[in-house]
Amino acid sequence: MIRTAHALSRHPIAGIDLNLGCPAPRVYRKNVGGGLLRDLDQVKRILSELRSSITDHLSVKMRLGFDTAEQFDRLLDVINHCEIDLLSLHGRTVKQGYQGTVAYDLIAHAVQRVNCPVLANGNVTSAAAAAAILSQTQAAGVMIGRAAIRNPWIFQQVRQLLSGQPVAIVTLGQVREYIEQLRRVTTALTVPEGARVGYLKGYLNYIAPSADAGGLFCEKCGGRDRKQN
Ligand SMILES: Cc1cc2nc3c(=O)[nH]c(=O)nc-3n(C[C@H](O)[C@H](O)[C@H](O)COP(=O)(O)O)c2cc1C
Repeated sequence: MIRTAHALSRHPIAGIDLNLGCPAPRVYRKNVGGGLLRDLDQVKRILSELRSSITDHLSVKMRLGFDTAEQFDRLLDVINHCEIDLLSLHGRTVKQGYQGTVAYDLIAHAVQRVNCPVLANGNVTSAAAAAAILSQTQAAGVMIGRAAIRNPWIFQQVRQLLSGQPVAIVTLGQVREYIEQLRRVTTALTVPEGARVGYLKGYLNYIAPSADAGGLFCEKCGGRDRKQN
């Protein structure tokens, strides 16, 4: 990791981010991503070594814990001890994956406990949700995952809402153009033919459930509801 960090530091990067959040079993079984949260001493060793060997910004993306949030305070103390510059916090455990409630109260707790800015992550699905989560957690910002695939206008909408401007309404025509752009990207010659349909279907699983308010469009087309996945 230190060798990689040094290699990255030779480029004009904004910083280095350590992922302690990935919930995919094929990743965490190797004790990387979210799997590292099972061994906080190891996390402390890694972050201490990284901190002392690079001068770039060092940030961490993490969850509340591996299967429970019991060690959460210890984890936050590691963040402070290693002088992390920015913490992005998904308010679920690794074992929760993408299901279940997001513990915004624990994100609020982290905001109070750590010395660096915190980005709140998990189910930021609209500008209104972003504003509510910022207000509840007092986080420095929000990090948006799945909703950015479904609605790439969300960043502009959040900024509009937070600055008191009217929030732009996205038309189905714009969504159609967005899907067309995705189709062009996923049919680029560099993408192997067999993967092209799969890529587009993956994107549509995020987009289709919000084509209408009740998700009926997706249901009628036999699509899987990926609103929260
Ligand atoms: C397609 C996809 C890829 C992701 N890849 C990563 C990743 O590489 N590293 C990471 O820390 N989280 C990754 N995540 C998790 C998101 O960063 C985020 O923590 C999670 O989706 C919850 O936020 P959301 O409710 O806004 O989607 C990924 C999520 C999705 C949907």
